[in-house]
Amino acid sequence: MHEQDIEKILFDAETIRRRVDEVAAEILRAYDGKDLTMVAVLTGSVPFIADLIRRLPRPLRLDCIGAASYRGGTKPTELTLTKSLQLDVANRHVLVVDDILDTGATLLRIRDIISSLGAREVKLCVLLEKEVPHAENIRADFFGFRIPPHFVVGYGLDFREQYRNLPYIATLKQSVIES
Ligand code: IMP
Ligand code: MG
Repeated sequence: MHEQDIEKILFDAETIRRRVDEVAAEILRAYDGKDLTMVAVLTGSVPFIADLIRRLPRPLRLDCIGAASYRGGTKPTELTLTKSLQLDVANRHVLVVDDILDTGATLLRIRDIISSLGAREVKLCVLLEKEVPHAENIRADFFGFRIPPHFVVGYGLDFREQYRNLPYIATLKQSVIES
């Protein structure tokens, strides 16, 4: 089972819930009087954006973009786009939502793609920001928590496509990562 693979819970469900409330409040203030198109980066951002949008009582559009960079392990490989946007983002304020900002390679590429589609503004919101040097100094405009550069799972984050459904964010036992 899942639970026995967990080393340490970093953020439990209640802590995440309270922080998502705060991030939602920040987003509401930042987009007051502006249009808002939210873009979920599949698949890891699904629980986060699902919770986030239900705390945003205002008009917004929701779309998804597909990106896969981790090929079944804990080290990044080349990024592939697996799904393009369906909505027209020309002249729109776009908020890209992802699970985690690690090297930043994924979000840098996605930001460029959305900018090239004519978006008026592209901002980034991540649940987690790893305390590592990010590519080209990319930073999240909104973030949930900053974490040391450990590999984490849960609340959308996977290891070999498992653990996304855990309601908390945790580190995995080394024996699981090495198996
Ligand atoms: P980046 O391109 O290096 O910033 O990596 C971003 C992507 O890598 C995220 O969208 C995640 O899918 C994945 N990733 C990075 N760190 C972790 C982690 O600690 N656990 C699970 N997935 C991760
Ligand atoms: Mg991801």
